[in-house]
Amino acid sequence: MTFNDKELTELSDAVRATMSEKRFRHTKSVEEEIARMGALYLPEKIPELRAAALLHDIAKELPTEEQQEICRTNDDPDLAHAIRSPAIMHGHTASYLIPIIYPKYALPEIISAVYKHTTGAEEMSVFDKLLFLADFIEPERPWQVCQDVRRSFWDAMPDTEPERIRRLDETVLYILEFTVQYLRDKGTIPDPTTEKAAAALRREYEIRYRLKEKPND
Ligand SMILES: [Fe+2]
Ligand SMILES: [Fe+2]
Repeated sequence: MTFNDKELTELSDAVRATMSEKRFRHTKSVEEEIARMGALYLPEKIPELRAAALLHDIAKELPTEEQQEICRTNDDPDLAHAIRSPAIMHGHTASYLIPIIYPKYALPEIISAVYKHTTGAEEMSVFDKLLFLADFIEPERPWQVCQDVRRSFWDAMPDTEPERIRRLDETVLYILEFTVQYLRDKGTIPDPTTEKAAAALRREYEIRYRLKEKPND
């Protein structure tokens, strides 16, 4: 095990001191949700998943200017867009802060999942997808869509690994496509990374599952 319970409790206490009670409640709820998912999907990575959950929103409450400065200093590849959309910037900012503030937790998989958690990405590992999903469906989320997605994700969870992976892929794809559509309906331009992620995962999904089902079509 990479991190023991004592270390994760210390991390949790350190994170708690930097954010509001509300944000911390959400953070702990993501941690619980991802641990539950991890038991099924990545049982050998539960401590890393919990650490990623604890760290994913550490920059959410930082002032926008401070986040912009951190992203600029780190030559963020998506800088122009991150600056236009402060709401998505906090995943990037957090990924730059982890090696400085919490170096013990600066594992590539944790950094990657935290970086991608607000927008998704064209390439997402199972680890990345679990954080993205846990953030959306943790039970403290008040919105109906989050509760509906949570219910359908956990409902009659398949027994076999390939079927469980398919459930994960379908759910993440649903959230990405829902987000793009929801923003368009509101008259907001969706985040280009989210649009690209939705398109890439849709392509991957069609290849991986649909073609397998209809080899002669
Ligand atoms: Fe976030
Ligand atoms: Fe979050």
